[in-house]
Amino acid sequence: MDNNNLTYHITKTDRKKREEMLGQKAVTLWFTGLSGSGKSTVADALEQKLCEMGKHTMLLDGDNIRFGLNSDLGFSEADRVENIRRIAHVCKLLNDAGVIVLASFVSPYAADRQKAKEIIGETAFTEIYVSTPIEECERRDVKGLYKKARAGEIAHFTGISDPYEAPLSPDVAIDTSKLSLAECVERVLVSLK
Ligand code: ADX
Repeated sequence: MDNNNLTYHITKTDRKKREEMLGQKAVTLWFTGLSGSGKSTVADALEQKLCEMGKHTMLLDGDNIRFGLNSDLGFSEADRVENIRRIAHVCKLLNDAGVIVLASFVSPYAADRQKAKEIIGETAFTEIYVSTPIEECERRDVKGLYKKARAGEIAHFTGISDPYEAPLSPDVAIDTSKLSLAECVERVLVSLK
């Protein structure tokens, strides 16, 4: 798109002011990992904990966002790229509003997570790799999707017929097959402090 005729408007009330009013630092906690790895469960439990601490939060979840904002996108590489790009901008907007964001997306491509980090801003972005092995994700098969993917009923299924590029240096790594839910939440909390 031609952005030549647009001017970014700097507002008097900015992120800093909104953060002051909410009494918190706005950050994005980006959970990446295979389907069924436990991203959303950990993010959900962590959000509960943050709320108990009086923090203002918003949880963005892959499946849920695809029911609304990104209902026009599928799972081709181009659609996943666009999925993550839009979500990164939503995270940034919510951070600008002073809100702590928990973003739970497979986000299989390292380049897209890097772009998300650039959009959100390096200092606001924490990458949490939910590293539960595929064997365990498939054993759990909470949504029955691995079974369908193995039967050839879902094309481009991450980990089966589509790639997952694991983070090389995440800020936090948690394997939900080795740690309890409380331990996973604690590890992320510790990294924030
Ligand atoms: S991403 O790859 O674009 O980041 P996203 O997190 O939004 O994916 O959505 C992943 C969720 O969609 C999975 O948890 C799963 O429930 C569902 N899903 C449906 N089809 C696929 C597929 N082909 N690959 C991965 N997940 C899929």
